[in-house]
Amino acid sequence: MRTHYCTDLNETNVGEEVTLTGWANNHRDHGGIIFIDLRDKTGLIQLTCDPADSEGAHKIANSVRDEYVLIAKGKVRLRGEGLTNPRLKTGAIEIVVTELTIENKSAPVPFVIGDKTVGEETKLKYRYLELRDPSMYEVFRLRSKAAIAARNILDANGFLEVETPILTKSTPEGARDYLVPSRVHNGEFYALPQSPQLFKQLLMVGGFDRYFQIAKCFRDEDLRADRQPEFTQIDVEMSFCDQEDVIKVAEDLLVAMFQACDIEIKPPFNRISYRDAMELYGSDKPDLRYGLAMVDVIDIFERCDNEIFTKIAQQPHKNRIKALKVPGADLVFSKREMKSFEDFVRQFGAQGLGYFQMKEDGLKGPLIKFFSDEDVALLVSRLEMEIGDVVFFGAGEKKVVWDYMGRFRNFIAEHEKMNLVDPDKYEFVWVVDFPMFEVEDGRVKALHHPFTQPKSTDKDDVEEIESIAYDIVLNGTELGGGSIRIHKEDVQEEVFKLLGINEEEAQEKFGFLLDALKFGAPPHGGFAIGFDRLIMLITKKSSIRDVIAFPKTQKASCILTKAPSTVDATQLRDLHIRLRDTAK
Ligand code: AMO
Repeated sequence: MRTHYCTDLNETNVGEEVTLTGWANNHRDHGGIIFIDLRDKTGLIQLTCDPADSEGAHKIANSVRDEYVLIAKGKVRLRGEGLTNPRLKTGAIEIVVTELTIENKSAPVPFVIGDKTVGEETKLKYRYLELRDPSMYEVFRLRSKAAIAARNILDANGFLEVETPILTKSTPEGARDYLVPSRVHNGEFYALPQSPQLFKQLLMVGGFDRYFQIAKCFRDEDLRADRQPEFTQIDVEMSFCDQEDVIKVAEDLLVAMFQACDIEIKPPFNRISYRDAMELYGSDKPDLRYGLAMVDVIDIFERCDNEIFTKIAQQPHKNRIKALKVPGADLVFSKREMKSFEDFVRQFGAQGLGYFQMKEDGLKGPLIKFFSDEDVALLVSRLEMEIGDVVFFGAGEKKVVWDYMGRFRNFIAEHEKMNLVDPDKYEFVWVVDFPMFEVEDGRVKALHHPFTQPKSTDKDDVEEIESIAYDIVLNGTELGGGSIRIHKEDVQEEVFKLLGINEEEAQEKFGFLLDALKFGAPPHGGFAIGFDRLIMLITKKSSIRDVIAFPKTQKASCILTKAPSTVDATQLRDLHIRLRDTAK
């Protein structure tokens, strides 16, 4: 119906007859002339309906209300002197309307399109109205471009796109499964895939050599700003490869997707071992747009005159005492603010947060009295302290210290008085050499997943076993991860054993994989990139919900369709399900 989209037009089109389609963003009557801002997915343009140009069009314009669907025919004209609108891409021109059709009316809308102050509930209930905002469309345009770029580059590199089942068996990625009851098999359930992990490995056993999929994954876990219960991965697997081959494919893929969004990134990306990431930044997903690396001071604290610290320092295998120097902090933070930082870290299990300030006359702080002059001098030199710097200390069990100091590092960098984060930077880092296992509450768990290749299982302490696993981190967000897989049945069985999965359970849960590994499984490995997270970072959105067309709320419900919802009794009967008391 249209000749152009609204923002296709500019001064070069002046004098042309055009037909535009869209929605009335707003309308106003100025001394008998009616102005309508017409909106389509690209943006706005001003329609001018003057009875002198067309009485018919003017009459129709009179009855136009917000969000009416319009088709407007007219001529492009330069706006008069002083009437241009520099905030609009089309602000120098207008359409002199000669024919106007109302294609559909609209009920009064619950919010003005583009209003960023509307509450989440309302926005999601009327998501289709929110999507009318051209800035929303732009997000999904980039999402589509990036997906197409991914397909193209993977296709060009010989990867085959294969769809794997959605109704399947549990794939352990660490979250709860979404279950689907079977009607035909009384009492049995399918699980929705947490990832296509096992199927992509089976495709390698099937000799496909290079696979990819833009795959929907489902995880029933606590939701956060970067987590949704259903999300999309760009999932890749390849055979006869080592870690370097996989990393190269992942980097090429990221370059292509960023390029599709007009952003240039330059691999090879930096790498850091898991151990260094934890020791220096207190996180396995460090934000490296800023420095603020932590420094070990456990040896200095061992000699201090305070039993709390010396006790901690005497167990360097179990504990850490870490120092985080924040340059210039003494010049910007008040005493009260320094105290409030302690409240921040306490939320994450810290006992307290000591600090020293570098003043003109030396290092000061409540704890300084516990240190000898030599050790004070050593702290100053090890931390390269200058006047105005503050150094914060975290002491305690290593995982707890890493966690709260890592969070504190991010908190300080983002603090408006420090402002150390460059929002325009894309700082990638590969975190490599992950431990294979972690022990939580006495239970051994796989850090990535149980199909990851351990470097060697010949260690006394399971937590010392490293794996060939890698994560790609962008600006402090885990964007993706992968590993070289176990391709030998005996190794897989041993890993299951270390995880406390007995033979019977391994057969019941993963028998099909163990069987497949018997029949000549090639060495293989791969990775998956969280596609929603990638688009969130590219478009600089603060929530993953902004880059998913119909997202779920924090409580995993879809306000728009009201899912999940109750079902009728016959459906339940067919599925052999009897509900217990559902009253809250
Ligand atoms: P992993 O579990 O690390 O690896 O997932 C890969 C990436 O998927 C994204 N992601 C999520 N995005 C949004 N919401 C969620 N709930 C969510 N969970 C994960 C993250 C994450 O880095 N099968 C392995 C990959 C492999 O080994 O090849 C896997 O799924 O960006």
